[in-house]
Amino acid sequence: MKVGVLTGGGDCPGLNAVIRSVVRKGVQEYGFEFVGLRDGWLGALQGNVVPLDISSVRGILPRGGTILGSSRTNPFKHEDGVQRIRDTLAAHQVDALVVIGGEDTLGVATELSRQGVDLVGVPKTIDNDVSGTDYTFGFDTAVGIATEAIDRLHTTAESHMRTLVVEVMGRHSGWIALHAGVAGGANVILIPERPFDIDQVCAWVKNRFKIHYAPIVVAAEGAVPIEGQMVLKDRTVDEFGHVRLSGIGEWLAQEIEERTGTDARTTVLGHVQRGGTPSAFDRWLATRFGLHAVDAVKDGDYGKLVALRGTQIIRIPLDGTRTKTKLVDPSLYDEFEVFFG
Ligand code: F6P
Repeated sequence: MKVGVLTGGGDCPGLNAVIRSVVRKGVQEYGFEFVGLRDGWLGALQGNVVPLDISSVRGILPRGGTILGSSRTNPFKHEDGVQRIRDTLAAHQVDALVVIGGEDTLGVATELSRQGVDLVGVPKTIDNDVSGTDYTFGFDTAVGIATEAIDRLHTTAESHMRTLVVEVMGRHSGWIALHAGVAGGANVILIPERPFDIDQVCAWVKNRFKIHYAPIVVAAEGAVPIEGQMVLKDRTVDEFGHVRLSGIGEWLAQEIEERTGTDARTTVLGHVQRGGTPSAFDRWLATRFGLHAVDAVKDGDYGKLVALRGTQIIRIPLDGTRTKTKLVDPSLYDEFEVFFG
């Protein structure tokens, strides 16, 4: 049995831990052979296939990024994409794939599986918004980085008695903002799932100053004000058709300054949340996902996604899990409103 492994979409801490556990268990316990497909679906299209064995995965557990490279290439945007993937798999005698990715990569995997390609999916994203799994690896690391940043911003905000806005990742979901905001003791947390009222944000900010503390506002990059409150001067659509609002963090700081007459600054954490070594929890979860994914291949249980449910790793059909992004439940968000302002 020869298994191909690929990592697609935005990278995330823990990808190497999955690759390592898939290869270690597959070789040692099942006698499988492995190859890596470089740069996600791009390598599958271009026939860019590299050997993958025990020696290639030695020492990679604590390393961020992915030794296989990644891309956001979608083979369905190429006319002969599926056939080219089939050709690559046939040329390298690959029997099955382990596909490690987020929404977009798994969406492609779902369609390929429907068309008869044998594969197993592993969910990843720092955003924690893949439906069907309680957590994705990479999330805990990102939350840790954002929390440390918030801790540091508290002391500089206090020294200057100004508002510090922290923009964290999360285009569609506010998981990082909510977890890091709560862990870091933010005074306002803004998430895409709950459009905010800028007047309310400014009231919370003023309130914080009144009790002689400097406000910390945590905003997910996809957070938006209620209708009519923002003039979209700089609205762009990215290559995936996602609307990108340029700089919600910047916009918030400007509005806070204008509306409250107090000083405000913005820190955009950006890709620092995705880089570097995974946390212990992410290494643990990624390793378990890898072990269970290779078991699914051994069982010939294709078209499945490994997922965390409670403390168990389960297999769920790729179909039906890809229907929607896992958003923050409004009642969970409401639990923390007592800390705002
Ligand atoms: O999906 C993960 C993520 O990190 C998002 O939070 C972020 O919006 C996006 O990727 C950034 O993608 P890129 O690195 O391609 O700009």
